[in-house]
Amino acid sequence: MVELRENEYKTLLTIEKLGGKASVEQIMKESGLPDATIMRAALTLEEKKLVEILEKKQTTVWLNDEGKLHAKRGLPERRLVKALTKLGGKSSITKTVKKAKLERQFVPIALGWLRSKDWIALDTKTNMLQLLEKSKKEGADEKLLKLLNEEGQATAEDLSPELQSAVKMLKKRKLLEIDEKTKRIIEIKEAGWKRIKKGIRVITEVTQLTPELIITGKWRKAELTKFDVTAPGPAVYPAKVHPVQQIIKRAKEIFAEMGFTEIRGPIVETAFWNFDALFQPQDHPAREMHDTFYLKYPKIGKLPKKSIVNKVAKTHENGWETGSRGWQYSWSPKEAKKLIFRTHTTATTIRYLAEHKEPPVKVFSVDRVYRNEKMDYKSLAEFHQIEGIIMDRNVTLRDLIGTLKEFYLRLGLKKVRFWPSYFPYTEPSAQSTVYIPELKKWFELCGMGIFRPEVVAPLGIEYPVLAWGGGLERLIMLKLGLDDIRFLYKNDLGWIRRIPTCQ
Ligand code: PHE
Repeated sequence: MVELRENEYKTLLTIEKLGGKASVEQIMKESGLPDATIMRAALTLEEKKLVEILEKKQTTVWLNDEGKLHAKRGLPERRLVKALTKLGGKSSITKTVKKAKLERQFVPIALGWLRSKDWIALDTKTNMLQLLEKSKKEGADEKLLKLLNEEGQATAEDLSPELQSAVKMLKKRKLLEIDEKTKRIIEIKEAGWKRIKKGIRVITEVTQLTPELIITGKWRKAELTKFDVTAPGPAVYPAKVHPVQQIIKRAKEIFAEMGFTEIRGPIVETAFWNFDALFQPQDHPAREMHDTFYLKYPKIGKLPKKSIVNKVAKTHENGWETGSRGWQYSWSPKEAKKLIFRTHTTATTIRYLAEHKEPPVKVFSVDRVYRNEKMDYKSLAEFHQIEGIIMDRNVTLRDLIGTLKEFYLRLGLKKVRFWPSYFPYTEPSAQSTVYIPELKKWFELCGMGIFRPEVVAPLGIEYPVLAWGGGLERLIMLKLGLDDIRFLYKNDLGWIRRIPTCQ
């Protein structure tokens, strides 16, 4: 007679009750046993050749926001077809788009699909669209769109082959959310049926040692449950820190380990600290509206004390006592007073330096900056910069390079190179790049240099200042192998759960 433990016996009988074949979820519902217990039992039963565990992939699909929009209004190419039908089956692209009230961002997509679906012919001579026969039939993608809109979701594996191919189409068009799970089905095999008939001896095992078992000495005779720690259990997603916060925390820790102190500065900054104090001329292209966010209200802020402002002004105009010729233009306090969202955290470090002229100064900032940029896979309009400065009596470029090498090494980036570069506020200036072995490529990391006399002299700083700064999100992308920066701020729970912790 076979011997089974209680939970194995219970699992086997539950499957028998469910007709000899059941999914883990069904067994859970029927028996009240937890998922992990059933799986553990099933593995033992399979070892004893009483059952077989069948694994089936289960892909749940549902529409994302854009998908829902198209489900409601019709796919963009269908909307054009409808409009063209109303226009008598033949018309120009512009008229058809207008009639369909198609949003501008969907026009190229719609035209692309019209062509590849063979729904429309374009006469290149007259630029006229003409409906083709195929456009009359509802496509599989449209059927799936309708189904998902009505049902909310579907299991891809259970769909007809036609709709399964539509899943691929809509997935490629990025209209779907997809969740893949492995479904486990347990089936009683012939040997299992025989054993059930012949009878099974159930052994009771002790799963937990109690004080009573120990005191009375009963534990000597008790059968202790063996645990299979490799048995698959349900996926558990404990709370975790978002990858952006993880890197911020790690970067701050490293700075602290290396003897730096954190500083913070205002997000809304005057152009004075963001640009002028850094010897960026007032007609510098970076100041223009399309790179910098200017505040509408209030429009202007306060300049620091006159002695500083005057020296900065003179340095811009003719170099003042710095030995430079300056930029040779007439400096305007009005321009410098303008309020902006800081475009780099160098605004924060220079502001700090103006108040802390005694060496040594070793401070850093990890904070938000803003640039009026179009968002795409590699740029955001709002991101973080890591920034640091060292001011001391005899520091040199070698100290700067050594400090950065050490910083990146502690972040796990081993191969870092330094190249000459240019910034209006540093001389010499350099740029660091890092080699990512997984991607077999070099990536830019950060800008650096020694602040120019035109920057430090007007503030009354007498010692060399090493400065560097760079984007934090890029760093996360490199560490996680991400190819689209926007994922960091999409709040896609599935993605956040899947993404490994970065160290
Ligand atoms: N502020 C520069 C940037 O935003 C980086 C930098 C900081 C360069 C300090 C030199 C010195 O890219």
